[in-house]
Amino acid sequence: ASASGKGHGLPVPTVIGHRGASGYRPEHTLGSYQLALDLGADIIEQDLVPTKDGHLVCRHENDITATTDVAAHPEFADRKTTKTVDGTALTGWFTEDFTLAELKTLRAKERIPGTRQRNTLYDGRWEVPTFEEVLQWAEREGRKRGRRIWLYVETKHPTYFRKLGLGLEERLAKLLRAYGRHRKDSPTFLQSFEPSSIQRLRKLVATPAVVLLSTANSRPWDFVEAGDPRTVADLVKPEGLEWIAGYADGIGPDLSLIIPRDSSGRLTTPTTLVKDAHAAGLVLHPYTMRNENSFLPADFRRGTDATAYGDAFGAFKKYF
Ligand code: G3P
Ligand code: CA
Repeated sequence: ASASGKGHGLPVPTVIGHRGASGYRPEHTLGSYQLALDLGADIIEQDLVPTKDGHLVCRHENDITATTDVAAHPEFADRKTTKTVDGTALTGWFTEDFTLAELKTLRAKERIPGTRQRNTLYDGRWEVPTFEEVLQWAEREGRKRGRRIWLYVETKHPTYFRKLGLGLEERLAKLLRAYGRHRKDSPTFLQSFEPSSIQRLRKLVATPAVVLLSTANSRPWDFVEAGDPRTVADLVKPEGLEWIAGYADGIGPDLSLIIPRDSSGRLTTPTTLVKDAHAAGLVLHPYTMRNENSFLPADFRRGTDATAYGDAFGAFKKYF
């Protein structure tokens, strides 16, 4: 069986280095991606946001306060600002206010030092990578290893950036085409919490794509903007899954949509989502299985932030 059930040829369960080996190195750096690959991750994940001059860079969010040394740069002190991103007011420094050249003067740092092996030892060592640099790194690693390197690329806040004139999808599609990752059999998954971002990408490239689903009561931000009343709870019903299957290859549900937990954190009865998603012909890539998820099997709690995705769940099967 493959992770996708559709011939992607990945092991089951597939281990994705979530933001690289982000349990060991500052997330979304070439050092973090390299370690994830060296540790044996099957796929390496990137989150994408744009710079002021339209370059795609790898950061989990456009607010770079927590993951770079920007606060220590007096020349950027006046860039600190408060803005509302997808309905949430944030104060900090934001990628869309920096040119790529400016962003490259910053260095990445650990987001949450002091927990387990997360520490400040590697702070200052790596730049914020562009997605193009990651594509080039993947080509180099692929040549070295005699295989293509799988990537898992997320568009972050796509509606927000589109309204700023910094649409992510066209920029991403251009890079995917330039590096031969625009085909149905490309070793790449595209992912977004906003279904319209995946629909837009689907018109531009044939690369496999997954709609991310947050918790049941949440609404994708593009739905909020468009006045679409559906919640994630609606999307995981059979008719919602059919709708997704019209333009995507799979779903990436929050674990709680598969194994809800009660108020004391105990696992409750699994939902029918695994069965229903498969019935709709969708691959299923749940997130995020971390060391902190102590209910997960020990071999998936090795201390990395690797996300174990897998269509058939392998070792996780006993939970379903
Ligand atoms: O693939 C799912 C996962 O990437 C979503 O979580 O870390 O981007 O908030 P995150
Ligand atoms: Ca992500």
